[in-house]
Amino acid sequence: MASLPDLPRVRLLEGPTPLQALGRLSAALGERTELWIKREDLGPLALSGNKLRNLEFLLGAALEDGAETIVTSGRRWSNHCRLTAAAGARLGLVVHVIVSGPAVAGSVNVRLMRELGATVHEAATDDRAEREGLVRQVAADAERAGARVRVLPVGGSEPIGAWGQVLGSIEALEQAATAGFRPDTIILPTATGGTQAGLVVGAALASTAGTEDGGKPIRIGGIAVHPDGELRSKMSAMVDALAAMAGIVPPAAAIELDERQIGPGYGLSGGAAMEAARLLATTEGILVDPVYTAKGLAGLIAIVRSGALDGRRAIFWDGGGLPALFEPELGR
Ligand SMILES: Cc1ncc(COP(=O)(O)O)c(C=O)c1O
Repeated sequence: MASLPDLPRVRLLEGPTPLQALGRLSAALGERTELWIKREDLGPLALSGNKLRNLEFLLGAALEDGAETIVTSGRRWSNHCRLTAAAGARLGLVVHVIVSGPAVAGSVNVRLMRELGATVHEAATDDRAEREGLVRQVAADAERAGARVRVLPVGGSEPIGAWGQVLGSIEALEQAATAGFRPDTIILPTATGGTQAGLVVGAALASTAGTEDGGKPIRIGGIAVHPDGELRSKMSAMVDALAAMAGIVPPAAAIELDERQIGPGYGLSGGAAMEAARLLATTEGILVDPVYTAKGLAGLIAIVRSGALDGRRAIFWDGGGLPALFEPELGR
């Protein structure tokens, strides 16, 4: 494999997350596809999630610059925001989180951010421009008060953060090799696109390294969880930047994004997502969040049932998000 850049990093994961076989789910779907799951929901901080990987590099860069105050933003159920609060606590940083409004009484994720010591600023509306204005204002106020401030992007999705996902996919492919297989595809829920961009480049790096089956490309299939007309172009730009960091030519294959599971919108799951979550729970004893992971799982199950993965091996990327299971608003 090409020699990878040695970027500033803080360790927030204690080691690899598990890669588990889904024997009973595979059987329930007719044994047509061998299914595995990468348990990014299992980790050491604040109910964990895939975004700890981005934060290892985003906060590594921030600390290297001497930042002591972190400002980030997102929607109420943002796992990136909660995990920024947790990582900030762990590293002794001041954290401000700006959350889209309107404020909702009893939001579990917002309460957890506060319990982790972050100051949460709730916008009056769900308007992105309002939230971005608040980010600028909170950062400027902290700077005026003498703090050295770093603003992190929504979802931690910029190339430095997504580099953590490149390493996550390399980790998963090494675990698969140890278990004696190479996946044909990895399916994941996609929101801001950093995870998918990282997996695309990680899989391309693994193919560049070559394998016993001739380095057949591993397909990365994103399942969109909310509508975003700019998502593909954002992911392409991140893939190009990550490929440059990895010292490889950007993979030629188009970015795969399946938009059939978006349902009523962000945070709102349709019947297929609920059915998928129940099937995984009752066959494997694994719970998934309704905002991101259940939709991704519904996408995987629909593809398996279509026959497109017959005789293949697929890894499902479970990015975590478990607090959403307890959000009163999501009405489970
Ligand atoms: C639990 C969970 N899964 C998946 C995703 C999607 O990751 P990304 O934003 O990198 O597309 C997120 C991020 O928002 C998440 O919190």
